Amino acid sequence: MTPGWMRDPDTVPPHPFRGSMVAYASGRIIGIDGVIPWNHPLDVKRLWRLTRGAAIVLGRLTWKSMPRRATRRCRPLVLSSRPLRRVETFASLPAALAAAEGETVWFLGGTRVYQDAFAYADFLDVTLIPDRLAPAPGQRVATFPRIDPARWEPGPDLPDPDDPGVIRRRYRRRPIPFPGEDEP
Ligand SMILES: NC(=O)c1ccc[n+]([C@@H]2O[C@H](COP(=O)([O-])OP(=O)(O)OC[C@H]3O[C@@H](n4cnc5c(N)ncnc54)[C@H](OP(=O)(O)O)[C@@H]3O)[C@@H](O)[C@H]2O)c1
Repeated sequence: MTPGWMRDPDTVPPHPFRGSMVAYASGRIIGIDGVIPWNHPLDVKRLWRLTRGAAIVLGRLTWKSMPRRATRRCRPLVLSSRPLRRVETFASLPAALAAAEGETVWFLGGTRVYQDAFAYADFLDVTLIPDRLAPAPGQRVATFPRIDPARWEPGPDLPDPDDPGVIRRRYRRRPIPFPGEDEP
């Protein structure tokens, strides 16, 4: 049976859990030149509402792009090859997860964090952004990695009633097949 949190994007599974949260536009674009190239304030509000009290794992550039004030109600764990000032920094995702053992963790990007997090996330929380983007040649475009349908089962598309055109979709991890049985 599909759990309720797959059908209600304002709820979360029982704590503790590990989830990836992303908003992307066509082409799975998540960022251009270090910023998010759309303006959906309700989506930002939802991000901070759902991550309140949890550890958030993010890459250095994503951390740099966020207002510090916004992160004060969660525990930022930043991935970087070098220590950063005034924030917990880790050289790898497993190292960050070891520091957050037993806590709810949200993976908040960018590209490599999302890619590495596929191995650890219980579910993916995806927001589909309707804006049509046309990055210019030479712009730095960050994308969300491809979601493998053999590994992740999508829930229903849930239009956001307060943000026209925006759709939420959650994916849960498919069960690992019993040895000898076919992959799903
Ligand atoms: N739409 C969304 O939901 C969303 C979410 C997040 C970000 N964004 C956007 O995406 C862009 C940033 O993403 P990005 O992919 O370019 O950069 P990023 O992942 O935020 O930062 C890249 C840096 O983080 C460190 N890093 C990342 N993954 C690591 C890992 N697994 N292990 C160790 N270090 C790791 C490295 O830092 P060092 O170079 O210091 O070693 C790397 O150079 C921005 O435009 C941002 O606005 C959008």
